[in-house]
Amino acid sequence: MRWLSETVGSRPTGAEGERAAAEGIAERLRLAGYDVTLQTFPVTRFEDRGSSLETGTGEMPDVRAVVNSAAGQVAGPLVDAGLGRPSDLAGRDLRGAVALIRRGEITFAEKARNAAAAGAVGAVVFNQEPGLFNGAMDEAAPIPVVALGGEEGAALLGRLAAAPLTTTLRVDASLVESSSQNVVARLPGGGEETLVVGAHYDSVAAGPGANDNASGVAVALELAEAAPSLGLPYSLEMVLFGAEEIGLVGSRHYVAQLAPAAREQIVAMLNFDMVGVGERLTAGGDDGLVEAALEAAAAQGVAVEPMAGDSGRSDHAAFSAAGVPALFFHRPDDPRYHTAEDTAAHVTAVHLGDAARVGAELLQALATTAQP
Ligand code: BES
Ligand code: ZN
Repeated sequence: MRWLSETVGSRPTGAEGERAAAEGIAERLRLAGYDVTLQTFPVTRFEDRGSSLETGTGEMPDVRAVVNSAAGQVAGPLVDAGLGRPSDLAGRDLRGAVALIRRGEITFAEKARNAAAAGAVGAVVFNQEPGLFNGAMDEAAPIPVVALGGEEGAALLGRLAAAPLTTTLRVDASLVESSSQNVVARLPGGGEETLVVGAHYDSVAAGPGANDNASGVAVALELAEAAPSLGLPYSLEMVLFGAEEIGLVGSRHYVAQLAPAAREQIVAMLNFDMVGVGERLTAGGDDGLVEAALEAAAAQGVAVEPMAGDSGRSDHAAFSAAGVPALFFHRPDDPRYHTAEDTAAHVTAVHLGDAARVGAELLQALATTAQP
């Protein structure tokens, strides 16, 4: 966990840090006796080279391009566009304007699309709380879109109420073709069946991703080192996913490249994502696996709560969608999620040990149920 978050540091998809992390993880798994392959796939990465917002005071507030923003420089009157819903835009003249939009209620992509459809040439989305945020859109926006801190957004609204404002918005960013990789490590077992243990090792660009998700990788590697002495009747496939943060791209690729027969032989997928910070450890997904996880946790004296649903926000989702029973281990309360403060100092080592012990207990419990 420390090696990934402190020595390698930030590991954004398709960047050098991600590749270095994959190589280090692969080496570690080879040393543990696994057959390791790097499964590479193409990715498109949003590279942000910096943005600015000029509002006529000479002071430049901190802004950050929302992922998938258009690039370029635009200028125009700043117009209060509420939450950016069609109902907020009705009756306001946004033609040639830069829309000032409050975060919340609808997606960033919807806000950008609505503002552009009303004629806006750019959009500034400000936080509902103090501080800047990392935003992402699931489609390319037709106009430049940046994030702004809550206080700065409120201050602009205040100035707008007093007098018209003209702004210049500049986004220097582009989509870069790159590649990412999954680290796939196999420990052959006696029978036909395979159990997949997964964790993503990429991070967001904003921080070192200690809890998200060097923590899950550490647990997976611990399990990888323990597994050979457990005498499991199934093959174990450890899969450390790349490109999770840009939309589960690594896990989707892994599932897509499986031959149907291989997919049917996967008895379960156990995913560890963010297991090092926060009071509650939760497990969600396939009902039978959740039940088995709660029993394994009880046997190890670790408190695990069932999760409502499975959140769908991590790599197990690609497996569930393909009909593979999947389980998601996750600690839901991390105040530093996706920030520069997601550092090793905030990760609780005992939490990692707890997740690994529950995982190992579960691997053994599933060995009994997996037998014919
Ligand atoms: N570790 C998070 C998932 C997460 C965070 C689940 C908080 C539940 C609560 C993961 O790395 C992530 O950030 N996922 C993205 C979604 C993904 C489809 C790009 C997210 O949740 O925004
Ligand atoms: Zn994550």
